[in-house]
Amino acid sequence: MEIKCTDKELLIFNKIAAAAEKLQLPCYLIGGFVRDKIIGRPTKDADIVCMGDGIELAHAVAALFHPKPTVAYFKTFGTAQIKLDDFEVEFVGARKESYNQDSRKPDVEPGSIEDDQDRRDFTINALAISLNKNDFGKLVDPFNGVKDIEQKIIQTPLPPLQTFSDDPLRMMRAIRFAAQLHFTIAPETFQAITDNAHRIKIVSQERITDELNKIMLSKKPSVGWDLLFRSGLLHLIFPQMVDLYGAEYVDGKGHKDNFYHTLQVLDNISANTDDLWLRWAALLHDIAKPATKKFEEGHGWTFHGHEVVGARMVPKIFTKLKLPLNEKMKLVQKLVLLHLRPISVTKENITDSAIRRLLFDAGEDIDNLMMLCEADITSKNPNKVKRYLQNFELVRKRLQEVEAKDQIRNWQPPISGELIMEKFGLSPSKPVGIIKDAIREAILDGIIPNDFGAAYAFMLQKAAELNLSAVE
Ligand code: CTP
Repeated sequence: MEIKCTDKELLIFNKIAAAAEKLQLPCYLIGGFVRDKIIGRPTKDADIVCMGDGIELAHAVAALFHPKPTVAYFKTFGTAQIKLDDFEVEFVGARKESYNQDSRKPDVEPGSIEDDQDRRDFTINALAISLNKNDFGKLVDPFNGVKDIEQKIIQTPLPPLQTFSDDPLRMMRAIRFAAQLHFTIAPETFQAITDNAHRIKIVSQERITDELNKIMLSKKPSVGWDLLFRSGLLHLIFPQMVDLYGAEYVDGKGHKDNFYHTLQVLDNISANTDDLWLRWAALLHDIAKPATKKFEEGHGWTFHGHEVVGARMVPKIFTKLKLPLNEKMKLVQKLVLLHLRPISVTKENITDSAIRRLLFDAGEDIDNLMMLCEADITSKNPNKVKRYLQNFELVRKRLQEVEAKDQIRNWQPPISGELIMEKFGLSPSKPVGIIKDAIREAILDGIIPNDFGAAYAFMLQKAAELNLSAVE
């Protein structure tokens, strides 16, 4: 097995080998770096395991570079890191670990390279490369990790129940690697995830969500979400998603399975964007369908208002998942709220005022919204798909025309709240909002043109209706 390192990586590994030789500390490259080199994925960090004190080795390695990099170390964990430009190297002493049932914190004692490989999560992550003088570059592969890479299999080095009960986060990691690498989880390993799923409760939400985001950023995120569902983990970490699963029938009439529809929408949008938040918007766009579902006689299944209820659920879900409660959350919320609007526009006559309203409400995110709407087309009927796409094409064309004419996208109505307060001697109060909204609505509806003079005259008229008089 030939492993191709860059010149820079080789230079770093040679210095590590020299420092280790001097300290008489056998050491190995291990884990993700070795795996990714064999797969051919880009690498930007490397883990080094040594038979002794990793912090001592890190200091000795740092001393061989000019200028000398800072060594960041954590005495309690016995780990140290150095950053060499954009390449990060982490050092740790080989360990033999046994875990406590109720926590992810292991009891650690020094061990051999074999002990250290035993305690790793998957065979593909237990590969090591020697950095020792006598066999520099030799691959140490006690669990046939290379074969598993070739056969695209994820399995644990030890019996899976032991590996997962040592650290239940590994159940999420198995699914995340399956999604990222498009590997299959071996049946015995998958069964152990199913059997051990309940132990995910001892893992912090932050770590779970890190894995969810990695699944989200994989090429076809549905793979990961489907495995989470089938293993039973999803029921514990995100039950609202599970509620989307399945189709109910009344009088022989069913609705589509919203879980698999959602996953298809997620894959569709992921083919067009790497943006994590647009992918979350796709995942959450129909999240309130179970809560709003009704069977109406003569009508069939309806999900009225699911976009409004769904938008309200977004902050709650972000809070629970410890996703950031910032403008990214607002973007997701906005897209969930508006995801039916472009379709409803096509059901009207695509009037200028409907297009202006859509532009005003979506603002800068109009292109993202259109991307989500197109991803939302999952019909298997090619004629339907063609019709929907043509309709959206028309909406896009009309959006461009109206935007060119009226510039609504970044638009602020020509009369501000301050001007209204000044003109009528008001402090911030209800009438100010009424006048401001009335001006905006009149412009969006095309009742008055989008210019200062017309808006000013309209403001005076509205104020008169409210019995307000101008101050001189
Ligand atoms: N590891 C483990 N159990 C965990 C986490 C990590 O056994 N719960 C081991 C694996 O051998 C892994 C190595 O520690 O390869 C490094 O972990 P990490 O940096 O989290 O993952 P990588 O495998 O490097 O992959 P990625 O960078 O994609 O997360």
